Amino acid sequence: MGLLHQRHILVAISGGIAAYKGAELVRLLKKQGAVVRVILSRGAKEFITPLTLQALSGEPTHSELLDETAEAGMGHIELARWADLVVIAPGTADVIARLAQGRADDLLTTVALATPAPVAVAPAMNQQMWANEATQDNLRQLVGRGIQIIGPDAGEQACGDVGPGRLLEPDAIASALAENFESRLLEGKHVVITAGPTVEAIDPVRYLSNHSSGKMGYALARACADAGARVTLITGPVTLTPPNRVDRVPVTSAIEMHDAAMRCASNADIFIGAAAVADYRPESSAPEKLKKTAGENRVISLVQNPDIVAAVAALAQRPALVIGFAAETTELIAHAREKRHRKGLDYIVANDVSDPETTFGSDQNAVHLISEHEAHYLPLATKQVIAERIISLVAHHLGSTSPTSG
Ligand code: C5P
Repeated sequence: MGLLHQRHILVAISGGIAAYKGAELVRLLKKQGAVVRVILSRGAKEFITPLTLQALSGEPTHSELLDETAEAGMGHIELARWADLVVIAPGTADVIARLAQGRADDLLTTVALATPAPVAVAPAMNQQMWANEATQDNLRQLVGRGIQIIGPDAGEQACGDVGPGRLLEPDAIASALAENFESRLLEGKHVVITAGPTVEAIDPVRYLSNHSSGKMGYALARACADAGARVTLITGPVTLTPPNRVDRVPVTSAIEMHDAAMRCASNADIFIGAAAVADYRPESSAPEKLKKTAGENRVISLVQNPDIVAAVAALAQRPALVIGFAAETTELIAHAREKRHRKGLDYIVANDVSDPETTFGSDQNAVHLISEHEAHYLPLATKQVIAERIISLVAHHLGSTSPTSG
């Protein structure tokens, strides 16, 4: 899974001969797992058809600022909010000038103004237009506002000129876009994460477990890997595909998870306990399948499992940051604060599991990130976005110490 996997990328194609390369960019982004929507400027439609882009992106394309059907479905503000990243490719001299002015008189420029997401422009124009002081002034303004300029390439142009102004090749644009999702915040750090449920055997065919999907822990693993960390993901049985660049340690029971955590945590910089560890396990697991005895109830004696995150926090060689989760249905903050203190954690991530939007299995979450002196509310967003916010909020506590492990 690459950096672009499941990212919402809005590709805005403006009117230029390079518009066909915008179509190729859409195809490449889709191939890398991104979810792509396309804006076609009026000019772009002279070069390439909405139908082509609809087929390549698998989504309806967008062109008009005030289109009744679009506004009822995904209007310009929804589109702007939907995007994790907006890329204008090709970006003509005219579009660059209009972005510099902050215009909002068509869908492309309006979305570029209205989006909270990063915006990138891949310029494409005649070399003389590129070199013109007006264009260069406009570009300086865009760069000053944090807009990423990708390219252009130099070489032979459609008009016969030779020089800078060619649209960069789509694979190079896709790579430059992917860098937006790589923060390097955890470069050289080792992060150990527990995720998913644990499964406690009653006999060879029966067990006690819970509904944890593992999605939050896996999202954290991906966020840490994207931030440059070495990641060890100790995972109970889940059906998720592990992120790339993550060492996966599969376990079944809480005891196995505990042993793996103890082995890995002493040389970690961060430990995150995102697993839903079963609090109890059967005192003994029957070696053979238990037989039903007619008319008799069966009592299974349960013993407590070790508290993994608390055990890690109590290690002499403790990771610099130990983070746990608290799923609560009442008195969310008070219970979470008490749990953080009792388990010796630096941070606790509290979520209200009485809310159906944020319960086990959901793709979304809304949480409070609480430490002794801080409390941040992270509003409803995908678990991936929540994971990235958590990492960016906690990473500064690590300082710039050298890595503790290789
Ligand atoms: O005590 P409670 O289960 O609510 O605490 C939740 C936090 O503690 C989570 O971070 C979970 O991963 C961790 N935990 C653990 N080992 C246990 C129970 C919970 O690491 N046996």
